[in-house]
Amino acid sequence: MSIQAIKGVKDILPADMPAWQHLEKIAREIFENYGFSEIRVPVFEYTELFARSIGASTDIVEKEMYTFDDRDGRKLTLRPEGTAGVVRALIEHKLYADNQLVKLYYMGPMFRHERPQKGRYRQFHQVGVESLGGTHPHVDIEILVMLHRLFARLGITGLTLQVNSLGDAACRDGYRDVLKRYLKAKLPDLCADCQRRYETNPLRVLDCKVDAEKFADSPVMLDHLCGDCKDHFAVVETGLKTLGIPFVVNPRLVRGLDYYTRTTFELVMEHAGAQNTVAAGGRYDGLVKEIGGPAIPGIGFALGVERAVSLLNTELLKPRRPQLYIAALGNAAVGLMLPVVHALRNEGIGVETDYTGASLKSQMKKADKYEAAYTLIVGEQEMVSRTAVLRNMATKEQIAVSLDRVVEEVRSRVKT
Ligand code: HAM
Repeated sequence: MSIQAIKGVKDILPADMPAWQHLEKIAREIFENYGFSEIRVPVFEYTELFARSIGASTDIVEKEMYTFDDRDGRKLTLRPEGTAGVVRALIEHKLYADNQLVKLYYMGPMFRHERPQKGRYRQFHQVGVESLGGTHPHVDIEILVMLHRLFARLGITGLTLQVNSLGDAACRDGYRDVLKRYLKAKLPDLCADCQRRYETNPLRVLDCKVDAEKFADSPVMLDHLCGDCKDHFAVVETGLKTLGIPFVVNPRLVRGLDYYTRTTFELVMEHAGAQNTVAAGGRYDGLVKEIGGPAIPGIGFALGVERAVSLLNTELLKPRRPQLYIAALGNAAVGLMLPVVHALRNEGIGVETDYTGASLKSQMKKADKYEAAYTLIVGEQEMVSRTAVLRNMATKEQIAVSLDRVVEEVRSRVKT
């Protein structure tokens, strides 16, 4: 039997690329317009980086990481997300500066050993941003507006921006106690993970994939925020309203990663079943310090490219077509056209040809299949008269062009 791709790991085929490239292009344009620069960090890191940042008692770290020993006996992990690596690079290269935001974006594959299904893969792709160094709630607003703008530009509608606050170190402890009191009575009915996390990290219990519905009446962080967190959230809400960004407050929004503080959010496709979160993120004011850097706050988001692409209207995204097809009939004509093909490409003209020297009929079929704008036909007769026939494929108009001036003649007609 032939070898197949790994379960949950997809090929992205040429037919898929126009949508992927469109999304990446629009994302770059928007991010750069907001002052973000691209960063590329490795796809694998020391395991400890993810355990310390995402949180040792999260599903990602406990169950989903692709971890292996390398030949030197170090534990390495294929990155399950982008934030940890970006923050590690920020610290390692001291990318931070006083009183200045460091704004970074990235694109690339991530790896999680989840149960594969539509919209959930073991290798998937994220486009993400991280803004580091700002505590002001307007930084949160900038990130949320940019997320909104990105999906608006992509023409993806029907998404709801859900926003919540997860508080900070000052108020989280108080809430943890309240939550533990609430969970205590339910404990015997909960799964083994929940029972363990009740002791180690009770906030994680609310994110349990098995028991989540049992917590519909749980106390929520939003009701237990300290004064500073409350004020921060109020400014974010007001700012979004002022700017006309639609959102709903979802006090039950919990994230699957431990590093979040204060503003957290998800862009959710309503009525779309389980894999309905297209993008997600939030503030992580303690993370840089947690992994050994200075006390630098941060906020960011990542979108799932497979999920976003599945919502794109791809009808307008035609793959690139050649501007010119060269039909060289017979071997001598193929040889004669060799410098012409490359001279035209050097001029930036998209040229397609096959080197078979096959009959006019079969090559015209090929030109149609490529949807070339023009076809240049050179056969025996043309070689004798030192002319070629240039055919406009849309109007079917044909003109004779001199073989000595073929590059100039084609260039002047075919738009680049
Ligand atoms: P996340 O919520 O784990 O956040 O992932 C972000 C997005 O990646 C999800 O909303 C989803 O669209 C996509 N995604 C996640 N897992 C899969 C999967 N198995 N298959 C397909 N798509 C998937 C983070 O990763 C954070 N690093 C986001 C962030 C950046 N927070 C702050 N900065």
